[in-house]
Amino acid sequence: MKIAVIGAGKMGLPLACQFASRGGEVVACDINKSLVASINAGQMVFDEPGVGEILAQAVSSGVLRASTDLPATLPLVDVVIVLIPVLLNPRREADLDTIESVTRTIAAHLVPGQMVSYEATVPVGTTRDRLQPILESSGYRAGEDFDLVFSPERVKSRLVLRHLTHVPKIVGGVNASSAKRAEEFYGAYLGAPIINLGSLEAAEFAKLAGMLYRDANIALANELAEYAEAAGLDFRDVTAAANTDGESALLTPGIGVGGHCTPVYPYFVLQDAKRRGISLPITAKARSINDGQAARLLDRVSRNGIPLDGNDVLILGLGFRPGVKEHALSSAFLIRDEAVQRGARVVLHDPLYTRGEIEAHGFTPFDLESSALPPVVVLNTAHAEYAHMNFPCWRKRGAKIIVDGRRFWDVSQVRGSGLQYIAPGLSS
Ligand SMILES: NC(=O)c1ccc[n+]([C@@H]2O[C@H](COP(=O)([O-])OP(=O)(O)OC[C@H]3O[C@@H](n4cnc5c(N)ncnc54)[C@H](O)[C@@H]3O)[C@@H](O)[C@H]2O)c1
Repeated sequence: MKIAVIGAGKMGLPLACQFASRGGEVVACDINKSLVASINAGQMVFDEPGVGEILAQAVSSGVLRASTDLPATLPLVDVVIVLIPVLLNPRREADLDTIESVTRTIAAHLVPGQMVSYEATVPVGTTRDRLQPILESSGYRAGEDFDLVFSPERVKSRLVLRHLTHVPKIVGGVNASSAKRAEEFYGAYLGAPIINLGSLEAAEFAKLAGMLYRDANIALANELAEYAEAAGLDFRDVTAAANTDGESALLTPGIGVGGHCTPVYPYFVLQDAKRRGISLPITAKARSINDGQAARLLDRVSRNGIPLDGNDVLILGLGFRPGVKEHALSSAFLIRDEAVQRGARVVLHDPLYTRGEIEAHGFTPFDLESSALPPVVVLNTAHAEYAHMNFPCWRKRGAKIIVDGRRFWDVSQVRGSGLQYIAPGLSS
């Protein structure tokens, strides 16, 4: 089978490698010329365990190559996979410009018999209402002349290969025969169990529903953490105990939810629900609770007698996940904006980013080895590099209060060194 994967990013490239490792002849298409050159040199550019080896092998054996030339690639393949991100525009609506533009290119080069599968998360109805008409402008009918499929990407960074081969692959089609073809294709090329949900819309919603579940349950943890703080209880101990009965699976509270998935997809559903004349109060409230965590924890700093106005604040961690150099919608941005709004000056350290990169993302870089520390230190990302900190030394260097946004450090160690310690779910 000849396969084009459009979007050779952190998800698309491992997927292309997986197809190649199971007998596919794959072209990874991307607009990023340097990425394409690296792939063609057999060099892995992302930190994704196991993928580099497959890439090098697949490129040297000629079953995988990359190209910036989508029009030239499309007529050569049997299957077209689209895996470019759909993000939000400033009005918090799904920005479909790029995926529609890619779809116009696919339509212009569509060959009867091809299967087009969208894997990028989109609002319910997008594949049928927005993308199918563009594809059919080719003169070919979806479900008759070509197959049209939606099959969400459900993997996680650093676990991509394992998830691709083990997490059930959900598929839906424009009709039963397209769904069936997707079932056969993914069954053969991934090896994971397949869940055929039938329709495009069910497959689109399955991905979104799972993400909204996560956001709402993080919000519940954040809400209960605030209650625990007020009641003088340690929410971590309470959660561990509550979760032992198999009835609840309370998540961990934190200073914010980042990434281009969890904080984005609730808006996809809210937008469509509004159009249908219904409100989704839990989904909407979860977003505001989770985005309000930075402000809530910074307000606790002031309540503990350390004003933010005129003070310096050090944020530890730009990334939205430990050990990963990804910062899309990271809560570091919310912490910065809330601190600045309260009159603070903000500096940031992240071991995975250069000073130049930190500046480019709108922060003043901070050297953790410098002699003086700001009085307020906020941990945003629980990078392993921050695991063993010398808190008595921090105290001597000027730190006064630690906001442990991830409940990463040992409270008695921090407080024992004379520093104040604030964490979600623990009273001050
Ligand atoms: N990153 C995750 O953890 C994750 C997890 C599950 C699902 N997903 C899904 O995967 C999608 C892709 O995520 P990602 O992390 O791979 O994104 P990414 O930003 O790493 O990669 C996207 C790639 O698409 C390329 N691209 C952009 N416009 C293009 C165009 N017009 N033509 C060709 N290529 C183009 C970019 O150059 C980039 O290389 C997400 O939107 C989401 O739906 C992501």
